[in-house]
Amino acid sequence: MPEHQFVSFLKTVVTPKRLEHSLGVMQVMSELAEVYDLDQEKARTIGILHDAGKDLPPHVYNQLVEEGNIQIQYACEANYIHYLHAPVGSYLVQRELGITDDLILDAITTHTYFGSSQHFNDPLCWCMRFSDLLEPTRNWEGERMILECVKRLREIAYSGKLEEGAFLETGVLIKWFEELGIPVHPNMRQTKQALAVKLGLDDSFLEI
Ligand SMILES: [Fe+2]
Ligand SMILES: [Fe+2]
Repeated sequence: MPEHQFVSFLKTVVTPKRLEHSLGVMQVMSELAEVYDLDQEKARTIGILHDAGKDLPPHVYNQLVEEGNIQIQYACEANYIHYLHAPVGSYLVQRELGITDDLILDAITTHTYFGSSQHFNDPLCWCMRFSDLLEPTRNWEGERMILECVKRLREIAYSGKLEEGAFLETGVLIKWFEELGIPVHPNMRQTKQALAVKLGLDDSFLEI
């Protein structure tokens, strides 16, 4: 499906600011797909559609959760802004745009660390999480920790160090969520722990 059709659809479900963010994420996805030799079309589709569910009102998304049989496995996943908009968006683009590719749908579902997809650690899923922070329209002024993380993440992600980038992003998000009192998804802690062991890294890597 041509990208202008995605844009037309998104204009009906997200705010103009979110659309701008989505286009930024698509651009970064495209660049990272080059770095990691990934499917360009899938990368761009994931990027532009990842937040399709984020601006829906509760009566609409509650209906989609039911209709799409979206299972909430952990209590924190009921938080819409931080977690649940991801699987809802995935179901929405499946229903409205006829997207059927499992990897695209799973990358959208897991961009908030939601669920237990077999594709959770696919490079496209990690590039999606990187792009969400790296896209150029995002303004992290006042969030010193994230601002510094983004600078380092940009260097690491663009130099092809996928797992180091994953450790940095996950570790910093955990710290940031804790600071803000946002419940941390168990997948975030498990991911960080597994990468720490695999890469031989500890929290000193996250110091800024
Ligand atoms: Fe999102
Ligand atoms: Fe996003």
